[in-house]
Amino acid sequence: MKLQYQSIKRKIFNKKRFKKLGWIALIVTVCFLNVACDSITNNSEEKILLTVGIDPTFPPFEMREENNRIVGFDLDILRAIAEQEEIEITIDDRLAFNQLINALEQGEIDAIMSGMTITSKRAEKVEFSRPYFQTGLAITVRDEERKIQSTNDLKNKTIAVQIGTKGARKAENISGAKISQFSSIALALHELKNGNIDAVIHDFPAILYAIKIGNLDGLRIIEKLLTTEYYGIALPKDSEHIDRINDALEALIADRTYDDLYSQWFNSEPRPLPEIAPTLE
Ligand code: ARG
Repeated sequence: MKLQYQSIKRKIFNKKRFKKLGWIALIVTVCFLNVACDSITNNSEEKILLTVGIDPTFPPFEMREENNRIVGFDLDILRAIAEQEEIEITIDDRLAFNQLINALEQGEIDAIMSGMTITSKRAEKVEFSRPYFQTGLAITVRDEERKIQSTNDLKNKTIAVQIGTKGARKAENISGAKISQFSSIALALHELKNGNIDAVIHDFPAILYAIKIGNLDGLRIIEKLLTTEYYGIALPKDSEHIDRINDALEALIADRTYDDLYSQWFNSEPRPLPEIAPTLE
């Protein structure tokens, strides 16, 4: 009887011990899993890999050097954002400007950094970051051209534009205008110089720079801008990365990295940027 009692007691004791060990094991496992899961989510928050579509025909925002390297203001801003937010960036330069939004929608690229004007029409398809540049469209003519002063004077004229740009849309709305579309604005400027077209409509800073680096004398930019536009970085609709891109842009503006890059490329002080671009069709 005594013996039996003892063994029952031991059994109970063992069971208890087993239970206790079980609990400890469970707690340890839960803690371990928690730590493991935490570190996985933290990691994915820290490092993003983004393939960014760039059409390097838009100096000084994105342009190809003779050695084929792509440089420009947009590239420097992108690099600064990448450093700020631990983003690993791959540049995809195979697409023409008018193909970029479609490629973003198809998931072939993860973002667009191409001096892209924020418009409500584009915003139906993409998510724009906060504006990172303010400028506008300008008309360019040959030096000797004196009659063309504004879009009104462009009726029934031949106007060159870059395909898919805001300049192209502006030209489409000019009555009777014949439009020549080019994949790069440098080609359009040569046509203008050669007298094959009457005017070019394109973003003011890009024209200014293209004329300078292309040694295109004999051309004149009409400095009264046709529009006020803001450039943004485009991400897919409802992108989970939009906040990080905006935070990074905000930080670069606040710590003056933005101003430094701006004055390096444009030799002037940047204009203050709104947090949200005014609606532009
Ligand atoms: N800002 C203009 C637009 O959005 C022209 C941009 C052209 N950019 C380029 N990388 N080719 O329509």
